[in-house]
Formats: sequence, structure tokens, C-alpha cells
Amino acid sequence: MVKRTMLTTSSRGLLEDSFPYRLYQKAKRVGTWNPADIDLSQDQKDWKNMGQEQQEDILRLISQFQAGEEAVTLDLLPLIMAIAKEGRLEEEMFLTTFLYEEAKHTEFFRLVLNAIGERGDLSHFHTETYKKVFYEILPTTMARLETDQSPEAIAEASVVYNMFVEGVLAETGYYSFYAALETAGIMPGLLEGIGNLKRDESRHIGYGTFLLQRLICEHPNLYELITAKMGELAPLAILLNQEGTKGREMTSFGGNPDEVMNFTMKQLAVRMEVLARAQGKKIEEIYRVTEKEMGVI
Ligand code: MN
Ligand code: FE2
Repeated sequence: MVKRTMLTTSSRGLLEDSFPYRLYQKAKRVGTWNPADIDLSQDQKDWKNMGQEQQEDILRLISQFQAGEEAVTLDLLPLIMAIAKEGRLEEEMFLTTFLYEEAKHTEFFRLVLNAIGERGDLSHFHTETYKKVFYEILPTTMARLETDQSPEAIAEASVVYNMFVEGVLAETGYYSFYAALETAGIMPGLLEGIGNLKRDESRHIGYGTFLLQRLICEHPNLYELITAKMGELAPLAILLNQEGTKGREMTSFGGNPDEVMNFTMKQLAVRMEVLARAQGKKIEEIYRVTEKEMGVI
């Protein structure tokens, strides 16, 4: 029989100053936007006036985000279960907002596709590398947590989900959207949603960073596994960019693909740098970290 230790009726109460609890509070304040409230009528008009190549570049990005959000919505649950099993109440409270937000992101991109009248099969935009990440690596790594809740398995899941998919790939995607749409001054509804998404994701990545720092602090030998995993994934981010630009020297919006690649490389370096900082830190320091230090916007 499972024997529970109650937290909230003990002298411990809730760890109100802890980073995950502060993230939870922040999510309730700023994460409540409603995708259905975003006005996409101008986007609809802009879409009709775009050239075919521009439409294709944007549709590629949307279709990768749409499937990416679907994947992270479906794949998060085993991590929440693993955290709940350890009785980490404040972290689980934050994770309830995390899953809700991923569901809203999935809804948002579908609303955009509906608005621009794209109801066909978009899977041809999912390149070989994209499929490797979202059809294989992410679901396999997350599903492992259903039966294996070891610190190693949790660390690997967080590296793939929070550091790589959210922290590198999604961030690169936002960068590409802004580079195209903001410069061209089009699709304001899509940009508004992406602004909200980016804020939500900064909390998700912040949580993942906290989780990995906590794990490194509790099990210092995990640091090596984490860096090795990031090293293994890094070439996939580079390949994804290359498949997106298909050797072109300029995007259909006049952007330079090299800048996107530089951004990806910078993201990879930043993630590793932040994790390296966990080494030698005390666990209390990790719980006390500020949102700003974790890059939460
Ligand atoms: Mn998301
Ligand atoms: Fe996320």
C-alpha cells in the first residue's frame, strides 16, 4: 500500500518562495490568453496577397509548429506523473499550467491554418530530420518515463523536451517568424499569438532549466550524461535549418539563412552554459533563483 506524507497540512506548507511555485503564480497571471480571442482577419487578407514562395515558407514554419505543439501536448504527461510520484507538489502545480498552455498552442496554430484556408495534409513539410525528432526521439524519450522514473530518465527527457525542442528548435522558429513577418509588416494575429507563445515557453524552458539544475545538484554525475545528450542532438538542429533553406542564399522575405543558423548555434551554447552553472551550486540556491536569472520573460 502507498503511504502518503501530507505537505500542506504539515509545518512545511507550500514552498511559496521556491522557483517552481513562483513560476506557477506567474503562469496564472500572464498565461491566461485565449487563442480564440486573437483576431486573424487581417492575416487572412495578408495571406491572399502573399506570393507562392512566401506562402510556402510560412506554411512550412506553421506546419512544423502545429505538429510540434501537438507532440509536446501529447508527450508531457509521463514527466508530470514522474514528478507527482516524487511528491514534488510545487513543481506539479506549475506543470498543470504547462500542459494547459501546450494545449492552447496546439489550438492556436490550428486556428491560424483554418483562417488561411489550409485544411489539407501538411506532412510533406516534415523533413527527415523533423520526423526523427518529433515522430521518434521525443515520444520515445518521454514514454520511457512511464516505466522508468530514474533521475537519468528524467534528465534525458528534460534535455530533449525543454532544452532541445523548446529551448533550441522552438526559439529558432520564433526567430524565423519574426524575421519574416515583422519585417514585412504582415499577419499581425499570427505574430500576436507567437508573442504569447514565446512568453509561455520562457516559463517552460525556465522550469526545465531548474529541473536539470536540481538533478545535477542532487546527482552530480548526471552532468556528463546531459552534456552528451545535448551534443548528440545538436547536429539535428543544424540539419533542420539546412533542410528548411534548401541551399537558398536568401529567404522569400529577404532574410539571410546564416542568421538563423547563428541564432541556433547561440541557443545551443546558451543552454549548455546555464546548465554548467548548476555545478557546485547548493540546492537552496537553485530553489531561490529569480525568474530573471532563468530568462523568464
Ligand atoms: Mn508550446
Ligand atoms: Fe512548451
